[in-house]
Amino acid sequence: MFYKHVCKLVLPPVLMFVSMLLMSGAPARAELAAPPGVTPPVGTYAGADVAQPIEFPHDIHVNVNKINCMYCHTYARRSKVAGIPPTSKCMGCHKMIATDKPRIQKLTEYFEKRESPKWKKVHDVPDFVHFSHERHVKKFVFDADLPVENVEQVCGLCHGEIKAMTVAKKNKPLTMGFCQRCHEANGGPGDCWKCHK
Ligand code: HEC
Ligand code: HEC
Ligand code: HEC
Ligand code: HEC
Ligand code: HEC
Repeated sequence: MFYKHVCKLVLPPVLMFVSMLLMSGAPARAELAAPPGVTPPVGTYAGADVAQPIEFPHDIHVNVNKINCMYCHTYARRSKVAGIPPTSKCMGCHKMIATDKPRIQKLTEYFEKRESPKWKKVHDVPDFVHFSHERHVKKFVFDADLPVENVEQVCGLCHGEIKAMTVAKKNKPLTMGFCQRCHEANGGPGDCWKCHK
C-alpha cells in the first residue's frame, strides 16, 4: 500500500533511488514496539482477510478513539480466552454514536433481535495445544508493572499491530517454533507437556 502510494508521486530521480533503498531494507510499516525488557518472538505471517458479518474497524476504535484492547477483550486478564464483546457492549456507545451509518444500523438490528454477529475465528491453535491469555497477560503486564494503556504492546507480541487494521488478520505464525523461541528468550517453560495436554 505504502509502495503504491510512493510510486504514484512523481519523485526526483535521487529521492526515488533513496526511497527504493529504504524500502528494500525496511518493512513498509514499523513494527509495534515490544514492551520494555521483553525479547519479541521472531516471525511474521501473511494471513488472509476474514469476511466478517460486520466489518469491524479496530483502527477507528483503538487508534482514533483510544479504546483499550481489554475494555472489549475483557477476559484476556482472567481466563484462557480473550473473548469478543457482546453486542450490548457495542450498543453502550452505538445507541448514540454513528447511528446513521449502515454498519451501525446492521449492528442495531442484531441487538434488537438479541443476537450477536457470528464473528469468524481469525486465530485458532489446534485443540491439543494448551494456551492461556491470563498467564501471558499477568506475566507481561501486571507482574512487569506495564501501564495498562500500553497493553497493546503485549497483545502485539502475538497479534501484531491490530490497531492499524480495519479487519483483524492473523499476522504472527503462532506455530510451535514461534511459541518455543519466545519461551527460550523470556523464561517460559520448555517441557512438551506444558503446552500439550
Ligand atoms: C470496541 C471493541 C474492541 C476493541 C477496543 C478492540 N477489539 Fe479486538 N475485536 C473486537 C471485535 C468485535 C472483534 C471480532 C471481529 C474481527 O475479528 O474483526 C475483534 C477481534 C480481534 C482479534 C481476532 C480474534 C480472532 O478471532 O482470532 C484480535 C486478535 C483482537 N481483536 C485483538 C485486539 C487488540 C490487540 C486490541 C487493542 C489494540 C483490540 N482487539 C481492541 C472488538 C474490539
Ligand atoms: C466506547 C465507545 C464505543 C464502543 C464500545 C464501540 N464503538 Fe464502534 N465506534 C465508536 C466511535 C467513536 C466510532 C467512530 C464514529 C464516527 O466516526 O462517527 C465508531 C465506529 C464504528 C464503526 C464504523 C461506522 C462507520 O461506518 O463509519 C463500526 C462498524 C463500529 N464502530 C462497530 C462497533 C462494534 C461492532 C462494537 C462492539 C464490538 C463497537 N463498535 C463498540 C465508539 C465505540
Ligand atoms: C503469547 C501470545 C499471545 C498474547 C500475548 C495475546 N494473545 Fe490473543 N491469542 C493467542 C493465541 C495463541 C490465540 C488462539 C487461541 C486458540 O485458538 O485457542 C489467541 C486468540 C485471541 C482472540 C480470539 C479468541 C479468544 O481468545 O477470544 C482474541 C480476541 C485475542 N487473542 C485477543 C488478545 C488481546 C486483546 C491480547 C492482549 C490483551 C492478546 N490476545 C494477547 C496468543 C496471544
Ligand atoms: C512473548 C513471548 C511468548 C510467546 C510468544 C508465547 N509465550 Fe507462553 N509463556 C511466556 C512466558 C514468559 C511464560 C512464563 C509465564 C510465567 O512465568 O508466569 C509463558 C507461559 C506459558 C504457559 C504456562 C505454563 C505453565 O507453567 O502452566 C503455557 C502453557 C504457554 N506459555 C503456552 C504458549 C503457547 C502455546 C504459545 C504459542 C501459541 C506461547 N506460549 C507463546 C512467553 C511467551
Ligand atoms: C511453547 C509451547 C510448546 C512447547 C513447549 C511444545 N510445543 Fe508442540 N506445538 C505447539 C504448538 C502451538 C503447536 C501447533 C503448531 C501449528 O498449528 O502449527 C504444536 C504442535 C506439535 C505437534 C504437531 C505437529 C504437526 O505438524 O501437526 C507435535 C507432534 C508436537 N507439537 C510435539 C511436541 C513435543 C514432542 C514437544 C517437546 C519437545 C513440544 N511439542 C513442545 C506448542 C508447543
